[in-house]
Amino acid sequence: MSAHPFARPSRKHLLLAAATLAMGVSAPVQAQNTVWSDTKRPAEERAAALVSAMTSEEKFELLHTLFPPRVIGTPGAPTDMLPSAGYSRAIPRLGIPELRESDASLGVANQVEQRKGDTATALPASLATASSFDPAIAYAGGAMIGAEARAKTFNVLLAGGVNLTRDPWGGRNFEYLGEDPLLSGVMAGEHIRGVQSNHIMSTVKHFALNSQETGRMIADARLDWPAMHESDLLAFKIAIERGKPASVMCSYNRVNGDYACENHMLLTDILRGQWGYQGFVMSDWGAVHSTVKAAKAGLDQESGAELDKAIYFGEPLQKAVASGEVSMGEVDTKLRNILTGVIASGLYDHPTPAHEQTIDYTAHAQVAQRAAEEGMVLLRNAGNMLPLTASAKRIVVIGGHADIGVLSGGGSSQVRSVGGVALEIPLKSGPAASFSRTTWHSSSPLAAIRALMPSAQVTYIDGTDPAAAAAAARGADVAIIFATQWRTEAEDVPDLALPDGQDGLIEAVAAANPHTAVVLETGGAVKMPWLTKVGAVLEAWYPGQRGGPAIANVLFGKVNPSGHLPLTFPASEAQAPRPAPVGLEMLRGNDAAANADGNGVDVPPFPITYQEGANAGYRWYAARGEKPLFPFGYGLSYTHFGYSHLSVTGGTQPVISFDVTNLGKRDGADVPQVYATLPGSPVPRLIAFDRVTLKPGETRRVTLRAEPRILAHWDEATKGWRIAGGRYTVTLAHDAADRGLSAPVTLTPRSF
Ligand code: BGC
Repeated sequence: MSAHPFARPSRKHLLLAAATLAMGVSAPVQAQNTVWSDTKRPAEERAAALVSAMTSEEKFELLHTLFPPRVIGTPGAPTDMLPSAGYSRAIPRLGIPELRESDASLGVANQVEQRKGDTATALPASLATASSFDPAIAYAGGAMIGAEARAKTFNVLLAGGVNLTRDPWGGRNFEYLGEDPLLSGVMAGEHIRGVQSNHIMSTVKHFALNSQETGRMIADARLDWPAMHESDLLAFKIAIERGKPASVMCSYNRVNGDYACENHMLLTDILRGQWGYQGFVMSDWGAVHSTVKAAKAGLDQESGAELDKAIYFGEPLQKAVASGEVSMGEVDTKLRNILTGVIASGLYDHPTPAHEQTIDYTAHAQVAQRAAEEGMVLLRNAGNMLPLTASAKRIVVIGGHADIGVLSGGGSSQVRSVGGVALEIPLKSGPAASFSRTTWHSSSPLAAIRALMPSAQVTYIDGTDPAAAAAAARGADVAIIFATQWRTEAEDVPDLALPDGQDGLIEAVAAANPHTAVVLETGGAVKMPWLTKVGAVLEAWYPGQRGGPAIANVLFGKVNPSGHLPLTFPASEAQAPRPAPVGLEMLRGNDAAANADGNGVDVPPFPITYQEGANAGYRWYAARGEKPLFPFGYGLSYTHFGYSHLSVTGGTQPVISFDVTNLGKRDGADVPQVYATLPGSPVPRLIAFDRVTLKPGETRRVTLRAEPRILAHWDEATKGWRIAGGRYTVTLAHDAADRGLSAPVTLTPRSF
């Protein structure tokens, strides 16, 4: 059996390491080489040996990373530092590489073009990846980003965003993987595994409960610990198990009183104690507020430290060690955690190249296009309006800048895509203004439609004048409206309406032409007051740098849509657990307080009480008996699928078997979803899912195992899971609101 990269060392190994440690820093490096360069030894033991050989100066330097935009050009700045999120110097005599950190949720980021001319492949929004319900898509995206990062000499990727989208208006929802802990955890884990397959490090972020952007530096997220274990923490746990990220990034907000980056319960009791995590905890940028408290709570590395009020893990930490408030042993543990990440990820043994390497952007564009195609969700298709056929001779494309590109989400995840930027609008104000611009990737849906329909007359009208758009649509065979809603890190959207009068535009066009399809480029749920008046609605999310061709391929049936919503689309804001961002009114106009760089602003923390507890997302709507606009898991296809022969075995872990049949006339992929309700509760919980590609008429038998933790409750007294036992109902369904096929199952009570 091969060793888990973060496996704990055996007693023998620890004794060996202790003996090496006892040799002290004066021992010649060569004599110790056998320990840290021995690839057969556990990463933790090799890391401990390296720590024992580091000088005090080297140690304190590795405990905080530089923020290049503030450091480049200052006296003594490292000459090989690239403008990006973070950097720390190499220690060549010990083979410790420089750490070059880049954001990487959707590609190697290059916000506000801090590296002039440096482009990278832009995946669609993570919500699109999640909509595929396809772990292989998540892995491929991560592997692609990791390969580009490595070739660009980056080796620490700030990827792996797995916060549950508890609020439909969340500004960063597009960067996350939806509202369900199983789906989010699996997809984040696969993304991270893909990144790290390149022998570089990834984070999982933002630990934890960073569910809203409004006041993210000061808000106090309140949720009882068992409910957190059953929801947000479970997503992190599953992601860590599957992806084995070298690092966990603690978030800006407070969690039950303490800042996440100085939260002992989160960083030490849970992450290390209960989960046995062996990598390191890095802070979010500007998220550190203390030295001793953060150090004692379990923070290992202060990121982009120039953004904090002080470089807390620099001189102040040295002073705290000198005064005995923090022991040198505690400092060494932090370094061991960091270097365990460096070694376990493979980076130590496979250093990143010193200079940029060539990248196969053509192959990578295919990864981006496939993710976009598999992630689009067909929400409505009245009278089988889609796919459009060759009989459509006059096509009017309206709005959304569809003539030049596709919208992208804003903030630290912003990629400058290989095809270029079609349009970029700076923000005039607001917390995101300093680092975010409203950006369209150069991938024109209009051009892609024209390429697919060379004999049709395809015209474009920008949609700013609804009457003109309606007039253009009136005589056409088909009108395709592109509706957009931009979201960005650091700000939430104030409500779920499409902005800038787009609802009116859609109403006007639909009234003029019943053959109207709406393509949504949104970073989450929007309201659709016009829904029953249009023929079709395709949720394309932010579709990334190949969005144009991907959208055209789905509209015209070259690709059969197969995405399913990873989050609920409520019918109105009032249905959601919180109708609007908490604190929005209080912070309005106070950009500094709400800003990611908002340290030093004295605004009192405000609580956000997550009243829904573990019932995030669809569970909340089910618990309240609310009928959303579209439920979690929903998605249509150009074919349709039937389920039969459901059988479920109980005992300690339910095993669910069933047949899926493609009942239509096209090849297609289905996403069978298995939910369970616990005794005495009407609330469904996703316990397993699959993605099955079938030819017309084909049937496949699928067997899935339930994730036992979803069937359990967290017991804070024993710090473990408890399945109460008794009669559970298992439902095989097309979405969270579908009654599907159900079977009762009896589970054995157990704790684990
Ligand atoms: C974001 C992180 C990001 C970091 C570095 C922060 O503002 O919250 O997700 O990794 O900046 O750019």
